Amino acid sequence: MASLTVRQLDDKVKRLLRLRAARHGRSMEDEIRIILGQAAQATGRAALETINPPAPAADQQPAPRTIDRHDGRRRVLLIVGGGIAAYKSLDLIRRLQDRGATVRCVLTRAAQEFVTPLAAGALAGGEAFTNLFDPKSEFDVGHIRLARDTDLVIVAPATADLMAKMAGGHADDLASAVLLATDKPILIAPAMNPMMWSHRATQRNLAQLIDDGVVMVGPNAGEMAERGEAGTGRMAEPTEIAAAAMTLLDNAAGEHPLSGQRIVITSGPTHEPIDPVRYIANRSSGKQGHAIAAAAAAAGAEVVLVSGPVNVPDPVGVRVIKVESARQMLEAVEQALPADCAVFAAAVADWRVADAKREKIKKTKGGTPALSLVENPDILATIAQRKSGRPRLVIGFAAETENLVPNAQDKLKRKGCDWIIANDVSPEGGVMGGDTNKVHIVTTRGVESWPPQSKDDVARALVGRIAASLAGELK
Ligand code: C5P
Repeated sequence: MASLTVRQLDDKVKRLLRLRAARHGRSMEDEIRIILGQAAQATGRAALETINPPAPAADQQPAPRTIDRHDGRRRVLLIVGGGIAAYKSLDLIRRLQDRGATVRCVLTRAAQEFVTPLAAGALAGGEAFTNLFDPKSEFDVGHIRLARDTDLVIVAPATADLMAKMAGGHADDLASAVLLATDKPILIAPAMNPMMWSHRATQRNLAQLIDDGVVMVGPNAGEMAERGEAGTGRMAEPTEIAAAAMTLLDNAAGEHPLSGQRIVITSGPTHEPIDPVRYIANRSSGKQGHAIAAAAAAAGAEVVLVSGPVNVPDPVGVRVIKVESARQMLEAVEQALPADCAVFAAAVADWRVADAKREKIKKTKGGTPALSLVENPDILATIAQRKSGRPRLVIGFAAETENLVPNAQDKLKRKGCDWIIANDVSPEGGVMGGDTNKVHIVTTRGVESWPPQSKDDVARALVGRIAASLAGELK
């Protein structure tokens, strides 16, 4: 059977494919699989037509999903659904504003049982809209203008009912009418009871929405607001939703400095088994590595993220390969090559247990099992020192609690990589698991220290540097 990689496709097809994959929040490879599946079913239709559907007649042509800059600020329309997670949407307004967006709010009738239009409007700095049949709002702004005068629509929380209405194309209240009338990208952050989430009806609606080009962030697993309920259904955290929103806005704005580049990123900890139930691990959350993957995808790169076990959601538009141990991580990275750049942000366990047991080790009275450890492969050094097929830019991280920069400089030489991103992980800094980071970029030319900033901002700045380096503007 013939094989084909995305890199072999011609630029126009690649561009169309990238846009379509980003719209669906899928990797380019997954998008190709879906296109080929559809093409196989569509008798008499050429595969290319599936990638690039014929333009509708002029009078049916939808407005292009582009961004009109409004005072240079991105505009977000936040639709708040009726669920207990609605209170987090108030925080989301702030998180979006922190990232330079202006926010308008629409509250469903059910949402107003949880948060008031006054609170949402006060935070957003303008009226919160609630009623499709309110003559004052309709003459003033109107649901069509709400739907169009924005760059992105976010639905958070997206309840089972709101998702069903979206999937069915209903328009019997302001929120659903706006969602039907918009020509802008839509991001949903589902939140509901785990039973409702896993119900076939909800999953059927979700599949329809994804097929319609809606992008999803979350839901996360964990405790529900209802006592004793746990599972998948918690709304993604406001910072996660805001990061996904920025990714979509960047994609829609067409700012793609990493277009045509393939980047492999490792993230999270590794788990090294002791027996089938116990393992050795570390405190890495995966937040920084995942943020870099999201930022690289937003910048147009084709991203493969090899992730250890983490509790953060998969970034939008990234192909994620989930692994447990260091040896699995190395194998996945090697399979993901070739790449233009590799970023090793994972906190790989240095050692594994020499003879992990197949059966659970039994507790014996007065005795403790002796664990003998062996060294894990160094993934960064293995890839950086490859004789052939080495990515042009290999970036490692150095998490240190003392002598940060000298240790990072030493690591740069020892591992043979091009840059080391050094960060202080002493407990008082709160970097491990936290949302901010202070990094130093260590290269053979010197050290650049960046001010403390959010992990998302570190990721965006780093991606900018990677783009400049791959374009030959930086060493
Ligand atoms: O040696 P140290 O663990 O401090 O090096 C940190 C850097 O090396 C990080 O980029 C990390 O992802 C990478 N690393 C690796 N494989 C290992 C150990 C570390 O890729 N086994």
